[in-house]
This record gives sequence, structure tokens and C-alpha cells, in this order.
Amino acid sequence: MSASVLHLRQSPFVAPLSGKDVVLEGVSKAFSMNGKDMPVLRDITLHVKAGEFVSIVGASGCGKSTLLRIIAGLEKTFDGIVQIGGQGVEAPTRDCGLVFQDHRLFPWLTVRQNIAMALRSNRELSTQGKADLVQSHIALVKLDGFENAYPDQLSGGMAQRAAIARALVTSPSVLLLDEPLGAVDALTRLHLQRELQRLWMTRRTTMIMVTHDIEEALLLGDRVVILQPRPGRIHSVLEIHTPRPRTGEETTLLAAKRRILDALNVGNDE
Ligand SMILES: Nc1ncnc2c1ncn2[C@@H]1O[C@H](COP(=O)(O)OP(=O)(O)OP(=O)(O)O)[C@@H](O)[C@H]1O
Ligand SMILES: [Mg+2]
Repeated sequence: MSASVLHLRQSPFVAPLSGKDVVLEGVSKAFSMNGKDMPVLRDITLHVKAGEFVSIVGASGCGKSTLLRIIAGLEKTFDGIVQIGGQGVEAPTRDCGLVFQDHRLFPWLTVRQNIAMALRSNRELSTQGKADLVQSHIALVKLDGFENAYPDQLSGGMAQRAAIARALVTSPSVLLLDEPLGAVDALTRLHLQRELQRLWMTRRTTMIMVTHDIEEALLLGDRVVILQPRPGRIHSVLEIHTPRPRTGEETTLLAAKRRILDALNVGNDE
């Protein structure tokens, strides 16, 4: 990938570069199970800078999705402080978009209609303004020509790109990605990782991405947060200074991968 990605496909309808900081201070969460409180997250403190890309890795069940749900305002009860752009988070807002592992598009709506749905409560834009914004986001994720396709007429990777466009069309300051590429095949995944890198470089939305793929975490992240389980807490945070665009082959990334595998205790059985 060349440095020209920086000025790719930036249409006048796509919102200017923006992002807000995300502050987590002493965040803890327990779920009630059979009348007993089960701690899931303990004392998570993390300051994500505006425009930063933070990857989160950790074993299954260590509370990664719960953490994203708390940031998104989807969990009502938790201890600690969660702020986006200095404002406490109490409920879901347009400031924060969320992409899940499965695309969750409405099967009865086309790509264009699915993306437009995200703008339905927007009273500031005209009908034409909304249509232009939707079209520019279809172009942003390279789905031109598939505007009228229904989700079951798309490949998994294309549907996931539509879901990303739907999350971005409201110009959220923060995009939370929960294993967004977990359900696509390996080749598509490589392609979409580079797409995500391009989108982030173009938009500078603050992005927090949960992934099980360490190479993906390293390719995309300014920092990689390693969570340890039971209850989920921060084991360590790795800063990745490798310049972008990255290919994933950089020796600095390969060395960082070893450090993450060590932290997760993988491959140390011999
Ligand atoms: N609504 C809920 N009620 C009770 N327990 C829950 C609830 N949601 C999550 N949990 C528990 O919280 C823990 C963390 O779940 P979470 O989905 O956040 O993990 P995760 O790290 O995202 O896992 P995975 O990598 O498998 O997606 C798990 O033990 C799960 O059983
Ligand atoms: Mg999860």
C-alpha cells in the first residue's frame, strides 16, 4: 500500500477528521449469576486519546465485549468513570458507533437503505443531503454498484463493509469494533484489515477494536491492551510506534507479537 491512501476517496460529504478521547477510570463490573455477583471486569483504567486506535486482546470470556458495551452506554450498571469527550456515558449516543462480529444488517433492506436507517432521526440534513452522505459512505467502503443489493446477496466481507459504513455515516467521534472481522475468511480479512487502516487514516475517528488476532491488533493499533481473565483486568499495554501505512511484515511488529504471546502465555509449554 502506498502513501497515497491518505488522500483516497475523501468526498466532500464525508465528515472531516475528528475523534474524541475516551476515559475509563477504575471501571469494574459484575454480573449476577444464580443470585451471586460474578466479577467480570476489575479496575480498568485507560485513557484513549482523540484519534487514537487502540486494540484490545485477551482470552475468551475475559470481559472485552462487556467493556465495549460499557463504553457504548449499553450497560446500565458498573463502577467507575466512563467519559467520551469529557462527558459521562449513561446511554448510547450518536457520538459512539458500534460494529459487531456479525454484520446485523436488516435483511429486508438494501445496502443503501440499511446505511440510511442510521440517519433516520437526523433532523438537520435534507433528504438530498442524507442521500449524498449515504452514497459517499458506500464509496468509502468500496460498495459502489451494490447500493440496491440485499444483505443475502453480499459476501460476508461486503456485508461487514456495509455495517462499517452504517456505523460511520453518523460521523461518530468514537467507533467501537467488537471482533469486526471475526466471521470473514482469511483472505477477505487481510483485505478488510487494510481497508480499516485506510479508513482510520482518512477519518481519524477514535477507534477501539477487540480482536482475537494478534497480528491484526498490531497492524492497526497505536497501542495494544492485553487483558487477563477472571476477572478481566489490564495485564499490560504495548505502544506500537511503527509508522503507517503498515504491512504487518515490519520487524517491530513481529517482535511485539512475541511479547504479546508471552503476556498471554501462549507457546511457552515446552
Ligand atoms: N448479560 C450477562 N449476564 C451474565 N453474565 C454475562 C453477561 N454478559 C457477559 N457475561 C459474562 O461475562 C464474562 C465476560 O463476557 P464477555 O462477553 O465480555 O467476554 P469476551 O471477552 O468478549 O469473550 P469472547 O472473546 O468469547 O467474545 C463471561 O464470563 C460471560 O459469561
Ligand atoms: Mg466478546
